Amino acid sequence: MGKIIAIANQKGGVGKTTTAINLAAALAVLEHKTLLVDADPQANATSGVGFDLKKIKAGLYECIIDSVLPKDVILATETPNLDLLPAHIDLVGAEIEMINLPNREKMMKAALAKIKDDYEFLILDCSPSLGLITLNALTAADSVIIPIQCEYFALEGLGKLLQTVKFVEERLNPDLEMEGILLTMYDGRLNLCNQVVEEVKTYFQQIVFDTMIHRNIKLSEAPSFGKTIIMHDAASRGSLNYLHLAREVLQKNKMTRLKQTEKVINLDEN
Ligand SMILES: Nc1ncnc2c1ncn2[C@@H]1O[C@H](COP(=O)(O)OP(=O)(O)O)[C@@H](O)[C@H]1O
Ligand SMILES: [Mg+2]
Repeated sequence: MGKIIAIANQKGGVGKTTTAINLAAALAVLEHKTLLVDADPQANATSGVGFDLKKIKAGLYECIIDSVLPKDVILATETPNLDLLPAHIDLVGAEIEMINLPNREKMMKAALAKIKDDYEFLILDCSPSLGLITLNALTAADSVIIPIQCEYFALEGLGKLLQTVKFVEERLNPDLEMEGILLTMYDGRLNLCNQVVEEVKTYFQQIVFDTMIHRNIKLSEAPSFGKTIIMHDAASRGSLNYLHLAREVLQKNKMTRLKQTEKVINLDEN
């Protein structure tokens, strides 16, 4: 059964999409079959892995509203083991269309349930809002990763997000867990960054990932080529950071063991 991880923060520009794309790609490269789910009407994850938005005819919206089967809209990416459930702008309309439906918070969960078993990880890129689509994503998710940008007012608005996560846990999805807080766009030369890291670690303690994502120009240019960071520049710091994050996620979920042991056994045989 696949694990659904939502990447959420209602602040824009904190690294949600960059994390969703590149964590998903890193898990895929480490041989875990992964689905990147674009749950943001801006569809940055869809274009970020190389798809022309004008050519996307159906996506998550149709799966939620029109009961289209996810397997009929899922696209293979150029990364082995990585598929995409795309978004397009109509997803905005989904919020309005869902509002009067009895199960309005659980529609994404129902849609993803149809393909959950086909993947080891499903990574949801959430929109910068706490609206119904994000509530749906948190309700569908097994866990949530909150990216926090190392900058002024890093913790601003976080209370509201944590309240929302708590609300979802209490009312809609009792099994929702915190996968971790991820520090992004870290620049060790800046005192401010180090202060933010201290502050976040003091506040959130062990739920902060050991991996920090450094500010790295390659990470910001990769989407303009429609490439994940691993395809764009595998040796870049951004690539290494996201591979490290993937290993940390696998370790937390105790999934590294098996594949590595398999490799050792194969080596012995040769
Ligand atoms: N570690 C990083 N280093 C440099 N630029 C980054 C990094 N992470 C994200 N960016 C850039 O910052 C901007 C916002 O990131 P994005 O992932 O789109 O945030 P969000 O999805 O939260 O709005 C984008 O232009 C992205 O390319
Ligand atoms: Mg985004």
